[in-house]
Parts: sequence; structure tokens; C-alpha cells
Amino acid sequence: MKIDYSLVTRRTFLNTLFGGWLAAFFSGSVYALMQFAFPTLGKEPDFVVLNASDFIDIPLNSVKPFAWGGKVGLFFKKADGTATALKGLCTHMECNITYKQEDRKFYCACHEGWYDEDGKNIKGPPPKPLELFNIKTEGEKIIVFKKGIKVESKI
Ligand code: FES
Repeated sequence: MKIDYSLVTRRTFLNTLFGGWLAAFFSGSVYALMQFAFPTLGKEPDFVVLNASDFIDIPLNSVKPFAWGGKVGLFFKKADGTATALKGLCTHMECNITYKQEDRKFYCACHEGWYDEDGKNIKGPPPKPLELFNIKTEGEKIIVFKKGIKVESKI
């Protein structure tokens, strides 16, 4: 079937095509410039240093968030007094998780994912456990670092 009339003229079609190409070119250039100007943007650190006084005295069975690069980390003091730290992002689609004190479990509200207090995925869609970090105290500082990373320097 031959179409005699079209709502889109050749000029409109070509202008739209050219405009799309320009938009793609400039957004790609801006992205490349941002990566050059901020090379660590979006990358996670190997370790962070926290003030011990801000975290040591939190109540038992509670969490306190801290900045893990551009993401959230959670300092967790268990009911038995031991402390750990973990990445506060769900392993399903990276929503922020919360700690439910009454259940003593971590919860992701996005798709109702649950983790036990050791970070193990126990219910819902999360495919793997939460990422746990190592912690060590040096004087007035707490160093939170990825497993497998060696932190040797005195802070
Ligand atoms: S993002 Fe957490 S359950 Fe889907």
C-alpha cells in the first residue's frame, strides 16, 4: 500500500534525527568530562575511617549509618555487644535496607527482602547475603574496610 500523505515531513524527520544525534554527542561528552574531573565518582572505597565516639556508644541491637563512598554503610551493634559493619544496600536491586530491631533482621522494603542479623538472605528475592566489612579500632578511630583488604597504616 502506498502512502500518499505523511504527517512527518522529510525536513522534520531529518531535524529530529540530527537533534537526537546532537543530544547523544553532548551527553556523552559531558559524561566523559565528569569522569575526568571526578575519577572516583561512583566508585566504592576500600576503607573508611570513622570517629569511634560517634559509633561505640550506640545502643545494643541497633545500627547507625555512615557514608561508604556515595553509598550507605551500617555500623551494627548486636544484642550481645559485638559490632560489625555492612553495606546498607540490598543485593537484589540495591535499595537501602533498614534494621528491624523487633525482628532482629534487616529488611528491604522494595520487594520485601529479609536478611538475618549476620546478613544472610533468608526471605524474598535477594539472591545473596549482604556485604559485610571488617572493622578495627585504632585509638579514637574505627576503620571499616572491605574483606580481603589490608589496612596497615596508623591513622
Ligand atoms: S531491591 Fe531489595 S528486595 Fe528487591
